[in-house]
This record gives sequence, structure tokens and C-alpha cells, in this order.
Amino acid sequence: MSEQVPQTIVIFGASGDLTARKLIPSLYRLDRKKRLPGCVRIVGVSRTPLSNEEFQKRMGEAVKQFSGNDWNAEDWARFAPRLNYCPGDASTAEGLVNLQNWFETHEGTTGGARLFYLSVAPSLYGQIVAQLAGAGMTKPPTADLWRRIIIEKPFGHDAASAKLLNEEIRQYLREEQIYRIDHYLGKETVQNLLVFRFGNTLFEPLWNANYIDHVQITVAETVKVGTRGDYYDKAGVLRDMFQNHLLQIMAIVGMEAPAKYTADMLRNEKVKLLEAITVPTDEEASDAIWTGQYEGYLREKGVAPSSKTPTYSAIRLNVDNWRWRGVPFFLRSGKALASRTSEIQIQFRCPPHLMFPLPPGAKLECNRLAICIQPNEGIHLRFQTKVPDQEKMVIAPSEMEFQYEKSYSGVTIPEAYERLLQDALIGDASLFMRSDEIERSWAIIEPFIHAAESEKAPNPEEYIVGSMGPVGADGFMDRNLREWLPLYGNRTN
Ligand code: BG6
Repeated sequence: MSEQVPQTIVIFGASGDLTARKLIPSLYRLDRKKRLPGCVRIVGVSRTPLSNEEFQKRMGEAVKQFSGNDWNAEDWARFAPRLNYCPGDASTAEGLVNLQNWFETHEGTTGGARLFYLSVAPSLYGQIVAQLAGAGMTKPPTADLWRRIIIEKPFGHDAASAKLLNEEIRQYLREEQIYRIDHYLGKETVQNLLVFRFGNTLFEPLWNANYIDHVQITVAETVKVGTRGDYYDKAGVLRDMFQNHLLQIMAIVGMEAPAKYTADMLRNEKVKLLEAITVPTDEEASDAIWTGQYEGYLREKGVAPSSKTPTYSAIRLNVDNWRWRGVPFFLRSGKALASRTSEIQIQFRCPPHLMFPLPPGAKLECNRLAICIQPNEGIHLRFQTKVPDQEKMVIAPSEMEFQYEKSYSGVTIPEAYERLLQDALIGDASLFMRSDEIERSWAIIEPFIHAAESEKAPNPEEYIVGSMGPVGADGFMDRNLREWLPLYGNRTN
């Protein structure tokens, strides 16, 4: 596409938190890295009446606050004129008039390409898409003047509502125009998982039920619900984290190699994996889940005083295909935990026979691979070694490790939204979720939601803030004849 055709990123929900914390700082960083073409302009839309200057000022303060070392007054001064503001309620036809006028004045005679970003309440997604279509803004006049829409999460509240929403927006948009966000896919380490699995030969022959005993995927957070109590109490951890982030990670851990790194081939393989995950009955799901709620959650603003919403959950999933049959996947996530850490742990099987004597009561630690998504992004492989200079043969685990920080020193891991915004601009949907992925993910998680929310569901077990979750989650693993593996994020050294 020629540099001359204007490209406009329109952010609906421009006065919101996500715009200030993530979207504008990411666009600013892309600009600093010279990755934002000169023809790109950004228009904020929301109901708050603001002038261009006021919007730029607000965003300047946000970037200063949320960009850490990336803040640079000169760079900001160069970037800020790209920012425009059009007040309006985009869920109504009148609310788009200012934006329409803006396009007419600024796109010139060539017309322009447009990327719409819906960072608004999920209940408005359908309405805004319908209004955009009604105003003639979603139909590309020519292939060059593309129209794309990024839709934030949550996409639906359950399988039925996600399907409805897909149907609603597909009346106006083709699937190739829709970019559904899961910001975990924009994380470097999640993409590195693809490279690790499919850019090397070493691990792939072992990546199956013959060598792997089980997989653990943990996304632990230290934060509580903060100001989002109202949303969170209706969502809970299963909708907020499992249906999207954890299942996406699991899909990449488990999928087959796509023939090419293209959006459709990649997503076809992810869907195949998701389809191979057994959807349990509600009864089976109650047996494959443990839930918790952090102490004090019921006093959070926006939370119902007798809420049963889980802020922690651990579940077991099985994948019924040739590669994974019999290998349980344990997924857990929670808020107000001891550390902020996202890790994938691959527990390999033990050697069929051990010829080295172990001290009485000692257990062999079998090979383990940990992929740390954040923080301290890296990969650790644990294996047995001989302890030197002992009277007898003594073995102990040692580690080989790759750390981003060391191997790529001086490179700051970018914010996930940088990658995603850039990809949407160039039309690469690989790291966005397709409608079938979303619908299948809901179908997998729904029985667990029933198990946690039904009338007869037990209350979530209370856990201490700053712990690793409810004590019962350990019992859950005992019953599954496994234990939670130590997390790198919990290490003190
Ligand atoms: C969001 C959830 O999708 O992901 C939040 O809604 C959660 O509740 C956040 O805190 C975690 O993202 P990250 O990138 O901080 O791990």
C-alpha cells in the first residue's frame, strides 16, 4: 500500500483506562521505533467533550506515567499532532457525525484506510458496529482502503452470547475484517513458544504422551480486582482469564505445526487442538475444578456481599487426540497471589528404570521444562547430573537456562499491544482470535462455569492474600496424583 493513502486509527472509548494505559503508550512507542508510517493518524472518540488539545494533553500525561523509560519530551512533541479527538456517542447515528466530518476533511480526495478499535463496554460492540455500517464506514471502497475492527475482550459472556455477537457483527463485516483481541498472544514469550516448538527439532519428538506426564499452565497475579469489582464479580476468573488467555496458551502448547506461518493456517491448528479438548459434562467438570476467593473480596467495591465468584481456579483438561491422549493439562489462575508470574511447565515422564540408588525416602525429580512468559521471560530445562566428588554416586537436578535479559541484553520486551496494533495495521490477523476459536473456548469453559456458579456448587474456598491460592488446590492435585511444581516467579534468588 502506498505511503500516501491516509490511515486512521479510530479509538472508541478514548477517555477510558485502556486507551490511556496501553493503546496510546503503545502507539507512541511504535512511533519512537519508527514503525508507525507517517500517514497514520489517530482519532479518539468518546462521549466526554474534549478538544484536540485537551485530548493530547491528557494522553501526554498518561504516556509519561505509563511509559517508564520510554518517555521523551521531544518524541512526544513529534507524536502528539497525530492525535485528534471527535466527541460523540458511537452507539447512536448522531454520535458518528463528528467522526464522519473529520474523515471528510482529513482523508482528502484519495479516501483512506481505517482501523476501528472498540475499547468500550462489551454491551456496545454490536451497536457500534451496526452504526458504523449504517454510516457506510465499514465497507472498503477499494481493496487499498481497507476497513478493520479490533474488538476488545470479553467477547461474550458464555457460548451462546459469543455466538450471537459473532452473528451480529458478521452481518456487517467479513471475518477478515475482524480482529478479536487476546493480548496474551501479543506477548513476546507466547510467540516465542511457536519458535521454540517449530523452529527447533530437539523437543518436537518428545512433545507427546510417550514422554510427557502432564502440563501445568499458571497465570498468577498479585493484583486484586481494584476498581473493576463490578465487572469482575459478574465474570470471575474463569471468564476473565481461562476462556481466553489460558486456553490460548494451551492451544499453542498442544497444537500441530502449521505448514506456514499465516493467520489462517495457524488458527486452523489452534482450533483443531481446541476441538480435541474433551468438553466435560457439568458433573465431570465439578470433579475437575477447584475454586477459591481471596480474603476480603466480599468487601471490594462493586462486589455482591454474598458473592460466590471465584477469584482463583484450577482445572484439569484432557486432550483426546493421538499426541496427547492420557496427558492431563492443569490450568490455574488467580488474583491476590504471592507473585505475578505466568509459566508453562512441561513435566516429562521419569526414566523407566533408575539404576542409581537414591537415599531412603528421596524421590527422583524427573525432567522438567519451564517456559516463563512473564516476568523474567525465559526457558529452563531441569535434568539430573552427578554431584562431583562424593563418596558414593549422588545425583541432583541441574538446570540449563535461556533468559531473554541475558541473550538479548539491551532489548526491552515490548508491550503486547504494540505488536497487536502493528499487526492489525498491516493486516496480519495471526495473533487475533477467529470466531470459531472463541466459540469453542467458551464451550470448553462453560461446564466449569456451571460447576462454579450453580446453586449446588460449593462456595469457593477462601485463601490468604499473598498466598499461592486455596489450600484445597493442593488436595485437588493430590487427587490427580500430581503436585504443583515450584514456580520460577516465586524464587527469591
Ligand atoms: C486481563 C484481565 O485480560 O488480563 C485482567 O481482564 C488481568 O483481570 C489481565 O489482570 C492480566 O494481564 P497481564 O498482561 O497483566 O498478565
